[in-house]
Parts: sequence; structure tokens; C-alpha cells
Amino acid sequence: MSTTTLGVIGTGMVGLGAARRAVDAGLSVVLSNSRGPETLADLVAELGERARAATPAEAASAGDLVIAAVPLAAHERLPRAELAGKTVIDPMNYAPNSDFEVPELDSNELTSSELVQRHLADAQVVKALHNIGPKQLLELFRPTGAPDRTALPLSGDDPDARKEVADLLGLLGFDAVDLGALADSWRSEPNTPLYALPYVGQPPSGLTAKEFVAWVQQAPGVPAPAARVEELAAAAVRGPAGFRME
Ligand SMILES: NC(=O)c1ccc[n+]([C@@H]2O[C@H](COP(=O)([O-])OP(=O)(O)OC[C@H]3O[C@@H](n4cnc5c(N)ncnc54)[C@H](OP(=O)(O)O)[C@@H]3O)[C@@H](O)[C@H]2O)c1
Repeated sequence: MSTTTLGVIGTGMVGLGAARRAVDAGLSVVLSNSRGPETLADLVAELGERARAATPAEAASAGDLVIAAVPLAAHERLPRAELAGKTVIDPMNYAPNSDFEVPELDSNELTSSELVQRHLADAQVVKALHNIGPKQLLELFRPTGAPDRTALPLSGDDPDARKEVADLLGLLGFDAVDLGALADSWRSEPNTPLYALPYVGQPPSGLTAKEFVAWVQQAPGVPAPAARVEELAAAAVRGPAGFRME
């Protein structure tokens, strides 16, 4: 595995969680957001010498591998030219609302990662880190071979890119379960049993969508081994795309 620098586009909850884990695992990170590198000075200082801030285009260029941790609604603003030829981790989930609805996703014609791949036509998109919350990511990492090591699913159309991301997940302290092509990534998306729940246990009953998200954000991590992730992916039934908050 040759990834030494992770480019991070979007330094909100998910981007920052991935960056923290990456720095702790010994990688360098180049952080970016929509407001400009100067707004990331405190985070860079906190993460230390392996972190620096840049624009999204610079983070894309600098990353051996890049995570695009932005809202799906912003995916068309990802820097396509600088991401050409790169493996891009897509943790984005479709959250349709009155400002952002995609008929091809609503009809299940495409998965959200196929939509992202369509924009990033010259990159290799790998869906990963989308079904676990940042809190659990920062709790559940374990060394290779640990009996309670957690597994995360990934999907992508390019086998080499899938392997690259599996190796990265390994470095971050997780096993990977390869679900194959982006067209099948729905098996780990919202409205399937593999989405969030395996890593947090059972939420209280009767939560609204907003309350469920808030509950997951603070729930202690529960290890989910590869066999469990494989079993849940195989049993998944395709339902409506996306996580509707309104
Ligand atoms: N939160 C979760 O538990 C969770 C778990 C798994 C997956 N996800 C998915 O991961 C993605 C990120 O979620 P999040 O919770 O981290 O969101 P968030 O906290 O709202 O952060 C979003 C980040 O994206 C940046 N951004 C927005 N548009 C951008 C653009 N055009 N160029 C560069 N950066 C841009 C924002 O920049 P500014 O900071 O400058 O506004 C912010 O740093 C979403 O697609 C979400 O569905 C979330």
C-alpha cells in the first residue's frame, strides 16, 4: 500500500473524522473545504505536522488517494480535472429534499456513487466510509487480526481502486468487505440493514429521521466483523434510495 497522503475535500464531520484517523495511523492529510484554507488553521494546528490546509483542487492534486466528504448536492463542484486518474473515496449519502432531488436516484436507475462517477469520469470512484458515523470510526479501529476488528463495505467499478481503498481501510484499522461494482453499492446505503446500525446497536424505537441521525452521532461504537457485514449485504433488499429528513 503506497498511500501516504490523503486528500480531504470537505472537512465537516466525516472529512475530519477520516483525517483524524488517518493522521493517527501515520498518514499525511491535506484538508480543504468550501470556505478556504484559512478557515482550517485551528484544525491543522490541532492535527499537527502531518496536516496542512489547501483548496479542494490542491487537496485533490496532493492526495495519493482522495476522500470527497461533501454533501452529494455539491458533487458537481468537485474538482474533476485534478481528480482525473485518482482513486476517490465517496462517503456521500443521498438525502433528498426540496432543494435536491435526483429522479435517476429516486427511480433506482442509478446509485448515488454512479452519479458521482459520472461527474468524475476520469477518476475511479469507490464508495466507502458512508455507512459508519465519525464517532464510531474513531472508536472501532483495531490492529490487523484483532478478534473484534470491524469491517466496512466498499464498492467500485475498478478492482485496483477497490484494492487501494481496502488497503487504506486496513491502515486505518478496519477490514474491508468488497461488494463489487458501484451499481451494487445500494446494498450498503440508507434504508438497508448495513447502513449505520451494525456499528451502533439498536436505537430506541419511535425516533424520527432527525432524531435517529442525532442518536447515531453520539452512540458508542459496536464492533461488526466481516462475516456480519457480508451477511447483511447479501440479505439486503433494494428499497427507496436516500435518507429523507423532511
Ligand atoms: N455525518 C455523518 O454521520 C455521515 C456519515 C456517513 C456519511 N456521511 C456523508 O458524508 C458527507 C459529508 O457529511 P458531513 O456530515 O461531514 O457534512 P458536514 O459536516 O456538513 O460537512 C460538509 C463539508 O463539505 C464542505 N463542502 C461543501 N461544499 C463543498 C465544495 N463545493 N467544495 C469543497 N468542500 C465543500 C463543507 O465546507 P465548509 O466547512 O466550508 O462549509 C464542509 O466542510 C455527506 O455526503 C454525508 O451524506 C455523513
